[in-house]
Amino acid sequence: MNNVLRQDVWQILRQHVTSEVLLKHCLAVEIAMRAYAVKFEGDAAYWGTVGLLHDIDFEKYPEDHPEHAREILSSHGYDENFITDVQSHARDWPMERTILQKVLLAVDEMTGFVIACALVRPDKSLDNLEVKSVVKKMKDKAFARAVNRETLITSAEDMGIDIKEHIEFVIKALAEATKKPEYQELPLIG
Ligand SMILES: [Fe+2]
Repeated sequence: MNNVLRQDVWQILRQHVTSEVLLKHCLAVEIAMRAYAVKFEGDAAYWGTVGLLHDIDFEKYPEDHPEHAREILSSHGYDENFITDVQSHARDWPMERTILQKVLLAVDEMTGFVIACALVRPDKSLDNLEVKSVVKKMKDKAFARAVNRETLITSAEDMGIDIKEHIEFVIKALAEATKKPEYQELPLIG
């Protein structure tokens, strides 16, 4: 996807999400999805768009999320497959997930957790964040309590990727992307 089209997707998201925290979360998930698409030989633009729009209904319908993604996304012309991919990150999704859908679940919580770990560093940076410090924080129940540790672990297992490798992959993807121009408008950290 070229930058013009990605900009259109970003504008669609902004029509439905105003919270900066949620927008940053969507950007982080987009970044991780694009990086994993390359690893799994998927279409990076498509995977990235699924990531960017995966929480499009969350602000308006926090109770029923991601049920309302259907009407919002179809009103913008997204097809059934795309809507299914977005809705598959419902924690109680009844079907076997595809690899894209497994990755979406695995990066949904891990991106936020890794960013939370970076924010408590003295330099507030992802650049020097070590895997072992993220693993340590996972064991600290008081830290970022909203992040479900079991989901972090089982979703990585479902992808077939070692948890430490997953953490390292997400740190690297986010750290690299934060230096790109398209992520300067709303920096993930700061
Ligand atoms: Fe999410």
